[in-house]
Amino acid sequence: MVLEPLGALAMNHPDILIIGGGIIGLACALRLTREGLSVEILEKGEPARGATWAAAGMLAPLTEAADGGPFFEACRQARDAWPSWIDEITGRKGRAIELDTSGTLVVAFSEDELEVVEELTHAARRLGEPVEEIDAAEAYRLVPDLAPEMKRAILLAGEHRVDNRAVARALTAAVEREGVQIRRYSAVDHLELRGDAVCVVGDSWRREADRILLTAGAWSARVGGVGFLPIRPVRGQILRIDGVQWSWDGVVRCGELYAVRRGADALLVGATVEEVGYSDHATSAGLAELARFVDHAFPSLSGRRVGDLWSGLRPGTPDGRPILDEMLDGRILLAVGHYRNGILLAPWTAEKVADRLLGRTPSLPSEFSLGRFQAIRD
Ligand code: GLY
Repeated sequence: MVLEPLGALAMNHPDILIIGGGIIGLACALRLTREGLSVEILEKGEPARGATWAAAGMLAPLTEAADGGPFFEACRQARDAWPSWIDEITGRKGRAIELDTSGTLVVAFSEDELEVVEELTHAARRLGEPVEEIDAAEAYRLVPDLAPEMKRAILLAGEHRVDNRAVARALTAAVEREGVQIRRYSAVDHLELRGDAVCVVGDSWRREADRILLTAGAWSARVGGVGFLPIRPVRGQILRIDGVQWSWDGVVRCGELYAVRRGADALLVGATVEEVGYSDHATSAGLAELARFVDHAFPSLSGRRVGDLWSGLRPGTPDGRPILDEMLDGRILLAVGHYRNGILLAPWTAEKVADRLLGRTPSLPSEFSLGRFQAIRD
């Protein structure tokens, strides 16, 4: 039997039942099981095939959190944790997964884009992140498809990228190698309390655990019985262009959009930011928006082969920052709402959750509490 049918008595329940097998749930599972806890994952589909799979894999503290403060510090710590986290996932030393640390070129063709470059330059200096002016000849040498008449380019050497799909595969395998059961196609309907335990209820099954960890991304808000949780889906679409030959291996940003190298000759161009509820398919309008960006920033790529177009749902919160919190005397933990930074923040989140569950810290970081949204709730 896979899951207890409704009405059955709970059997050998795990210490921690994780709802959601995306990168955050898997990262927490790997960490917790290696720290000696028994862990199980309930995943509504295949693990790491939602936002984790759809992402472009940018590890970008500065460009995503230029205001500084605790969120930037969390993002910076997460970026710095990535090289050793890859070793932990793969069990091998030395970057068995593509992790590129060349940095991010931020380029400007318009006045608005110049403002973005200027703001990022100031933010980098203020926050102690590397920033360097790149002259036009060098920018065109690195990225020969850049549009003519570029006004300015800077290099942010601390903004990295990782092959998130390779991470998704390796992390799923590592978690299963540790003996964690990932119960696939087990969508959760709601949570209920049963004595000291929490009961997770699906369509025709239930499962109990001492503690629940909710890491269901954009779907977290659909789990009943959790109470107020201001998470909403924000769709992003990404276009893959094949056959791109640049000597630049890093990321290129321009305004709000970006282009990320992947593998030998692919370029991921993204991403749209769309408030369309749980509608998670790619669209011709998304394709058109990304194609306009290619025409604007890399016009000589317009005739290249489009290899793929896909979409995913980011778990948005009102301030774009994650929610790490606990409720019901710590019986339910939340690690949700990572919005644009789920890939980046996975190792950091797993560490915070493990520190809390193993009693090394008395609470989760208060800056990311659910209570900051109290005003919205009232
Ligand atoms: N991390 C970039 C995005 O969500 O589009």
